[in-house]
Amino acid sequence: LGSVVSVQEQQKIINVAHRGASGHAPENTMAAYQKAFEMKADYIEIDVQMSQDGELVIIHDNTVDRTTNGTGTVGEMTFEELRQLDAGSWFSEDYAGEKILTFGEVLDAFRGKIGILIELKSPELYPGVEEKVAEELIKRNLHKPNNEKVVIQSFNHKSMQKSKELLPSLPHGVIAGPSWANVTEEQLAEFATYADYFNPNMNIVTHEMVDDVHEAGMKIYPYTSRSQEQALRLFDLNVDGIVTDYTEHVYYHPVKNH
Ligand code: G3P
Ligand code: CA
Repeated sequence: LGSVVSVQEQQKIINVAHRGASGHAPENTMAAYQKAFEMKADYIEIDVQMSQDGELVIIHDNTVDRTTNGTGTVGEMTFEELRQLDAGSWFSEDYAGEKILTFGEVLDAFRGKIGILIELKSPELYPGVEEKVAEELIKRNLHKPNNEKVVIQSFNHKSMQKSKELLPSLPHGVIAGPSWANVTEEQLAEFATYADYFNPNMNIVTHEMVDDVHEAGMKIYPYTSRSQEQALRLFDLNVDGIVTDYTEHVYYHPVKNH
């Protein structure tokens, strides 16, 4: 096609702010989500787990050690204990006082303003987490097809099958770690019976994989780009979206060259 390509043919890549704009602010906090919104990302990606007393909380690791000033296992702490922690200082003193959020708080603050890519993190540790997530969405009327972009994904594919049954109108995604490098067309077809997205580790993405995922009727949002070079490689591979810590790396929409 060369250089004469109209604007309509330009690629629109979906910009997903991984744990919020986590390159700029402490991951999974209000500050990181607000920053992603200000930077005009298409989605914030959030990690949902459950406290000992059954509150849905937003944190990536199974312990609070890395991203707060406390220590302990998320599922063994009450919400009150989790809420007392400082989830910002570890990143920079500028963010002292950021709190661990509830799932409901994130939905209420950002629904309709920015897409929300909900990851069920280690759902096998939290029996009933799919039902609780569904409850929060249904309560807010977010379970029906509408303009508010909400997608649910997990590394735990059984959990996604279950969630799809609870929320049949919402799009779901399977996240695929490095061991899925040789995913077959048959496996993709099976995922496509309940999933709309196949979201792999960026290091295993090839042209062939992207084509196969599209062939199966799904979209592909690889994770996690942390440099401009990595984002450019994914653009070239014709992915549909990029999960990145640096929203600014995904503004550039190159022209499709095929
Ligand atoms: O979008 C997928 C990505 O968030 C999965 O990796 O470990 O950062 O949750 P992780
Ligand atoms: Ca995640």
